[in-house]
Amino acid sequence: MASPHLIIFSSSFLIFFTTTLYPTAAAPTAGSWSLLQSTIGITAMHMQLLPTDHVIIFDRTDFGASNISLPDGKCREDPYDKVLKKDCTAHSVEYDVMSNSVRPLMVLTDVWCSSGALMSDGSLVQTGGFNDGDHVVRVFNNSCSSCDWEEREYGLVQRRWYATNHILTDGRQIVIGGRRQFNYEFYPKTVVLEKAYSLPFLVQTNDPNIENNLYPFVFLNTDGNLFIFANNRAILFKYSRNRVLKTFPEIPGSDPRNYPSTGSAVLLPLRVVQGNVTAVEVLVCGGAPKGAFVNAQNGKFDGALNSCGRINISNHDPKWVVETMPLARVMGDMVLLPNGDVLIINGGSNGTAGWEYGRNPVLNPLIYRPYNPINSRFYVQNPSTIPRMYHSTAVLLRDGRVLVGGSNPHVYYNFTNVLFPTELSLEAISPSYLDPNSSWIQPKIISPVTQTKMQYGEQIVVRFTVQNQVNLNRISVTLIAPSFNTHSFSMNQRLLVLDGSNTTRGVGQLTYEVNTTTPPTGHIAPPGYYMLFVVHQEIPSEGIWVVIH
Ligand SMILES: *[C@@H]1O[C@H](CO)[C@@H](O)[C@H](O)[C@H]1NC(C)=O
Ligand SMILES: *[C@@H]1O[C@H](CO)[C@@H](O)[C@H](O)[C@H]1NC(C)=O
Ligand SMILES: *[C@@H]1O[C@H](CO)[C@@H](O)[C@H](O)[C@H]1NC(C)=O
Ligand SMILES: *[C@@H]1O[C@H](CO)[C@@H](O)[C@H](O)[C@H]1NC(C)=O
Ligand SMILES: *[C@@H]1O[C@H](CO)[C@@H](O)[C@H](O)[C@H]1NC(C)=O
Ligand SMILES: *[C@@H]1O[C@H](CO)[C@@H](O)[C@H](O)[C@H]1NC(C)=O
Ligand SMILES: *[C@@H]1O[C@H](CO)[C@@H](O)[C@H](O)[C@H]1NC(C)=O
Ligand SMILES: *[C@@H]1O[C@H](CO)[C@@H](O)[C@H](O)[C@H]1NC(C)=O
Ligand SMILES: *[C@@H]1O[C@H](CO)[C@@H](O)[C@H](O)[C@H]1NC(C)=O
Repeated sequence: MASPHLIIFSSSFLIFFTTTLYPTAAAPTAGSWSLLQSTIGITAMHMQLLPTDHVIIFDRTDFGASNISLPDGKCREDPYDKVLKKDCTAHSVEYDVMSNSVRPLMVLTDVWCSSGALMSDGSLVQTGGFNDGDHVVRVFNNSCSSCDWEEREYGLVQRRWYATNHILTDGRQIVIGGRRQFNYEFYPKTVVLEKAYSLPFLVQTNDPNIENNLYPFVFLNTDGNLFIFANNRAILFKYSRNRVLKTFPEIPGSDPRNYPSTGSAVLLPLRVVQGNVTAVEVLVCGGAPKGAFVNAQNGKFDGALNSCGRINISNHDPKWVVETMPLARVMGDMVLLPNGDVLIINGGSNGTAGWEYGRNPVLNPLIYRPYNPINSRFYVQNPSTIPRMYHSTAVLLRDGRVLVGGSNPHVYYNFTNVLFPTELSLEAISPSYLDPNSSWIQPKIISPVTQTKMQYGEQIVVRFTVQNQVNLNRISVTLIAPSFNTHSFSMNQRLLVLDGSNTTRGVGQLTYEVNTTTPPTGHIAPPGYYMLFVVHQEIPSEGIWVVIH
């Protein structure tokens, strides 16, 4: 816990005692919630933050009419739509964080339960969906203020519904799995109709009655290979040779963690020291126990899992370490915060993912502080008032808040006579680092300017101010990749703690500089946009956008 009484000392007194009286880590307290929009017109099933600070949001075209019209009297006519052949409402919107406003967008084909990633040019490339949309690739290129979706029919060679994407070292996306797809492909293609490659691991982890390995948890390891977790186990996969390099031990307890048992997972912060990453750890939390899906179909809603498994994926012989959350959770989202904490948010404490199968919303998020001693890592946060069950989302914003939306466990929009009405609202949680009483030690970045382009392994100087006394040994510079969030998983989520964070020095009144080095390689940080933060005593600055290439 920070020592707020420090504020009462005069600054000269403070300097005198700095070596002994610096507050220890400001422990996360309870955070605060705000309702941003009571309705954005659609239910936020998929979300991606763009480097314009706009968030692209979409649900599905076959939900029937949404609560927001398409612009300029436009309508979508789709003979293949299973619900409305002519629909004059939008199923995608662009949310502008700064102005807190929404603009409707037009998707032509069905984007339901799809996947995507921000490309290195800052455009969002979304892949697949359902029905007439399952082979389609859609691009949202944000180079203009009135941009809209552009659809590329037959962008994929296989149908992709509930697949997971990841950005690779060369800037392409890999698209892995999806319902009844035990294979992967790349986008963009290097040759026209470059084929899909088989991935037997997805057959081995598939229970054909339940399909318990959808939306696999995928992370790019710092050796350029992929960690793929499906159902209750994981492999290290050399996608370029179609070869399994390592099979990790099954997660203790053996319960499934992917859709519909939907837990979540993050790659913990990657700390770069002299060009190397010190440890590469994955944390998998929550989900529903084995059998929960069939039980839910029969009206029995099993208690969710309260366990997390943590593993060093680049070690020779890694073992899972199990930790216990203070609250069990299925359909939770795990969001990396700029100071390296993990926010675990949304979901319920009974049942599973899938239509009508979740019960007992968990309204209190948790913060997990990864490098505290084991058994003192979790902090319970203040509750929201809005249940966020199946089809809810959460993404980090550049100002450090987390945007939260969605929840619709029904086949159509349904606002009446249901346990969890279709949720069209958007809210934000401000972790306690944004509390007003933290602002006295919060850094503010002066330079570089936002949107600066940087090369791998480049020395950079970050200049910032802090209103009050700085602990020069408690500054770090972090980068976060903006992720694509849906179904309780954030694709491409990645946080780097940069090298040289300990070189901070004062250069003027309340002004400081830190010399740091951008990530050494594309294996450690695939090319593209990142948010850069200066963190002082666990309190992050507002981020700036940088482009690493
Ligand atoms: C900030 O204020 C809140 C609410 O009064 C309190 O709970 C919290 O402990 C304070 N945080 C710090 C770092 O002093
Ligand atoms: C959405 O529109 C329907 C139909 O017009 C209406 O009944 C419902 O109250 C609206 N819901 C919200 C949250 O705006
Ligand atoms: C986005 O637009 C830019 C500028 O027109 C273009 O260079 C880029 O290729 C486009 N991106 C995609 C993914 O189509
Ligand atoms: C600063 O960090 C580098 C590694 O990034 C380390 O080699 C060096 O010893 C550190 N210096 C201090 C003063 O801690
Ligand atoms: C970085 O890691 C590589 C591969 O493990 C190793 O060969 C190299 O010596 C390491 N460099 C430093 C500075 O530790
Ligand atoms: C939720 O799970 C707990 C633990 O298994 C159980 O005691 C409780 O009855 C369940 N609640 C519902 C609504 O099914
Ligand atoms: C991973 O490795 C690091 C460094 O050796 C160690 O501190 C940490 O406890 C390990 N984590 C797990 C989950 O084994
Ligand atoms: C909403 O759900 C209720 C309860 O299942 C059902 O009776 C009703 O028909 C549904 N309404 C719509 C619009 O689907
Ligand atoms: C930081 O970088 C600047 C500019 O490259 C250089 O002049 C300065 O000596 C560096 N300082 C440290 C402490 O490395």
